[in-house]
Amino acid sequence: MKSGDEPILRGCGIRKAFGSGDAATAVLRGLDIEIRRGEFVAIMGPSGCGKSTLLHILGLMMPPTAADELTIDGVSTLRLNDSRRTQLRREKMGFVFQRFNLLPVLTTERNIRIALTLRGIHPDGQVDAILKDVDLLDARKKKPGQLSIGQQQRVAIARALVTRPALLLADEPTGNLDSGNTQRILDLLRRFRDRDGQTILMITHNPQCTDWADRVLQMKDGRFE
Ligand SMILES: Nc1ncnc2c1ncn2[C@@H]1O[C@H](COP(=O)(O)OP(=O)(O)OP(=O)(O)O)[C@@H](O)[C@H]1O
Ligand SMILES: [Mg+2]
Repeated sequence: MKSGDEPILRGCGIRKAFGSGDAATAVLRGLDIEIRRGEFVAIMGPSGCGKSTLLHILGLMMPPTAADELTIDGVSTLRLNDSRRTQLRREKMGFVFQRFNLLPVLTTERNIRIALTLRGIHPDGQVDAILKDVDLLDARKKKPGQLSIGQQQRVAIARALVTRPALLLADEPTGNLDSGNTQRILDLLRRFRDRDGQTILMITHNPQCTDWADRVLQMKDGRFE
C-alpha cells in the first residue's frame, strides 16, 4: 500500500555495533529517521560518529545489528533475502560518494549508460537528457581521467539519477571539491529536488548546507539530536 504522504524512508530503533563481546563498539544506538517524499535532508555530525555507517544501512549495503523497522518506499526490508534486497536497492536508490567510483576505462556517456543497462533498462534518450542537466554534453566522449574533479562528480550524480531513483543517498558528495564546485553540486542537487521532486539524503560537513537542504539532522551519540 502506498500513499502520497507515506514517508519514502522510515527507520526505527536502528542499532549497529562493530566487533563482538568485550571489544564491541556501539556506533548507532537506537536511531530513528524519517524522510518524506521530495525532501532534501542533510546529515551532519563529527567524524567517526556513524554517518557513513547509517547511510550504508539505509542503502541496504550493510545490515544493522538490530532494528525495529526499516521501510523504503512502502517495502519493509528487514526480513528480505539478499537477492530481494539487491533488487530493491537497484530499483529504488541511487548513490553518490565522496570518491566518485567512476569506471576509468569508460567514457562519461558509457559510465552513465551502465546504470541503466544494469537494471535492464534500454537507454532511450535518458543519457542525453541527464548529460544536459549536469552540463556535460561536451564531455560525453571523455574518460574520467580527462575530466576535472567537479566534472567527475557531476558524472557520478548523472549516473545515480539517470534511473530516476525514489531516493538519492549521497555521502559527502562535495567532500573533495573546492567552494565553487561545492556550490555548483549543491545547486544541481537542489534543482533536481525542485524540478523533479527528487528525494535526497546527503551527509555533509559543510555548515552552509542549510542554504540548500530543507532539513538538517545532527547526529550525536549514535542518534539524532
Ligand atoms: N567495517 C567496520 N569495522 C569496524 N569498525 C567500523 C567499520 N566501519 C566503521 N567503523 C567504525 O564506526 C565508527 C563510525 O564510522 P563512520 O565511517 O560511520 O563515521 P562517519 O561519521 O562517516 O565519519 P566521517 O565523517 O569521518 O566520514 C568509527 O569509529 C569507525 O571506526
Ligand atoms: Mg563518513
